[in-house]
Amino acid sequence: MTDDVDFVRVCRVDELPAVGAAAADIFGHVVAIVRTREGDLYAVDDTCSHANVSLSEGELEGTTLECWLHGSRFDVRTGEPSGPPATAPIDVYPVKVEDGDVYVGTTPLNA
Ligand code: FES
Repeated sequence: MTDDVDFVRVCRVDELPAVGAAAADIFGHVVAIVRTREGDLYAVDDTCSHANVSLSEGELEGTTLECWLHGSRFDVRTGEPSGPPATAPIDVYPVKVEDGDVYVGTTPLNA
């Protein structure tokens, strides 16, 4: 986590699904905030790199988020696709929690 990244407050931790993803609009860019079964939080582009589909409406398995339309799978830690048809990665954003509030960095980690 770098100190020179701007963070925006998104929501309370307890507003997120216990396990899964929720979409959040950050300065006009929609990201999927993901909480794993282990309680780890990640933020990735909400839009599948294959077509204009919301990834937060897909299934989370471990740290893999699956697009519901054609089944592309993305590692939420790296943004890399691990299953076709998507071949391009999605952006991954830094996440931090302070006093129960979730903050997402506005600069992708893997840009
Ligand atoms: S739109 Fe996501 S895999 Fe096709």
